[in-house]
Amino acid sequence: MSRLLIEGGRTLRGEVKVQGSKNSALPILAASILSKGENVFYNCPLLSDIDTSVKILRYLGAKVNRHGHTLTVDAFDLSRDDIPADMMRQMRSSIIFAGALLGSKGKARLTFPGGCEIGPRPIDLHLSSLRRMGALIKERHGQLIFEAPKGLKGAEIALSFPSVGATENIMIAASRAKGTTVITNAAREPEVIDLADYLNKCGACVYGAGDGTVVIDGKESLSATAHSIMADRIVAATLMSAAAITGSEIVLESVVKSHLDAIIPCFKQAGCEFEFSGSKMKISAPEKVRSLGLLRTSPFPGFPTDAQAPLMAVASVADGITVFSENIFENRYKHVGEFIRLGADIKVEGKVAVVEGVKKLYSAPLCAKDLRGSAALVVAGLAAEGTTEIDTTEYLERGYEDLDVVLKNLGASVSKI
Ligand code: UD1
Repeated sequence: MSRLLIEGGRTLRGEVKVQGSKNSALPILAASILSKGENVFYNCPLLSDIDTSVKILRYLGAKVNRHGHTLTVDAFDLSRDDIPADMMRQMRSSIIFAGALLGSKGKARLTFPGGCEIGPRPIDLHLSSLRRMGALIKERHGQLIFEAPKGLKGAEIALSFPSVGATENIMIAASRAKGTTVITNAAREPEVIDLADYLNKCGACVYGAGDGTVVIDGKESLSATAHSIMADRIVAATLMSAAAITGSEIVLESVVKSHLDAIIPCFKQAGCEFEFSGSKMKISAPEKVRSLGLLRTSPFPGFPTDAQAPLMAVASVADGITVFSENIFENRYKHVGEFIRLGADIKVEGKVAVVEGVKKLYSAPLCAKDLRGSAALVVAGLAAEGTTEIDTTEYLERGYEDLDVVLKNLGASVSKI
C-alpha cells in the first residue's frame, strides 16, 4: 500500500495534458462487447478502475491488449455471461455490464456492485428500465440474474432522476434491442455523449445524447471501431483547484471548455483569470483566493458533485464564506473531517457545508476515504504548512493517473512511498 507525502507551500508552473476520462472509458469498455471485431480505444487512462474493467472483459472471454494509453478489445464470441462478486464489488460501474451482456448474449449473471461509500447508491432505475425492455430479473442472495430469452425490445423509459449510469446502461442495451427506445429525463453529462459517439461509430443509431431525450433505434449487429476517450473534466477541475489554492498559473491541455462551464465561474468568482487557445486553458490564480460563493451540485449542466471536494479545499483558505449544497449523494462530505484536521473551519448540516476560509492550513496525517475526497486532500496538502501525509493512494489510483508525478512536474513537492 502506498502513501503520499506532500510538502505544502510551493507555487506551481507549467503545462499539463489532462488524462482521458475514467467515467467515459468505463461504459465504453463495457459497450465494446456488443460489436464484432477489434475495437481500438485511444487516450484510455491508466487507472485501477480500468484494470478492473479489463479483468472483467478478459474473464468474459474477450481478448484485451494494452499498449500505453491504447487498449484493443475483441469481444466476439464471449465464452461467459457471469461476473464474479469480487470483480463486481470493485466498482459501481460494473453494473453497466448488465445492459451490455443482455445486449450481446441475452443474459447476465451478476451481483450487486460496489464502489466508493458516498451514501446509498441504489440501482433501481437500472433494473426497472431493463425490465421495461423485456428483461426478466431475479434478485436472490445478492445475486442478480438477467434473462431476455427472446432478446430485448425497445421501450419508452421516463427516468425519475437523470441517472448517468442508468442512462448509459439503457443506451447500451437498446443499441442491440428490437425496435426503438426513448429515454426521457436522460442524463446530459458529456460522458453520455462520448458513449453515444462510440456506439454510433459502431453502427448504432443513438440520437439526442446530451439533450435530455435520447432515442435509440436498435440494430441486429454492430461493428468494432476506433474511438478516442474524451478528456476528464473532473481531473481538470482538480488541477484548477491545485492552481487556485497555491496562487499559481498553469496551462491545461486537452480541455473542452463547454464541459467546464459550471466550474469556471466558481474560480472566476474566487479571483482566477482564464485564457483559452484551442484546447488549451491557462488559469492564473491570485495570491489569495476570494470566497467561491454558493455551489449547489446538480446533474449536468449544473455543478458536478465530483468537483465538490476539490473546490472545498480551495474554499477552506479563501477570503470569506463559501456555501456548498450537495444534492446528488447523501454522504459526500467525508473529506470535511480531514480538512478540519488541517485547521479548516467547516460546519456541515445535512446537505449543506459552510466553509469559512482560514488564513492557513497546517499539515496533519490524513485518512483517504473515497476517490474525489482523496484528490481534495492532495489539493489541500499543497497549501498546508509542513508535510501532509495521506495514508493510502488506493482510492486516488481509481481515477487519477499518476497525480503525484503530474503535480511534481508542475513544481509541487509530492512523493509516493
Ligand atoms: C456517475 C459517475 C460518478 C458521479 C455520478 C453523478 C461514473 C462511473 N460515475 O455515477 O462519478 O458522481 O455519475 O454525476 O460515471 N440513483 C438511484 N437509482 C439508480 C441510480 C442512481 O436512486 O438506479 C441515484 C444515486 O443514488 C445518486 C443519484 O441517483 O443519488 C446519481 O447517481 P448516478 O447519476 O446514477 O451516478 P452513477 O452513474 O453511479
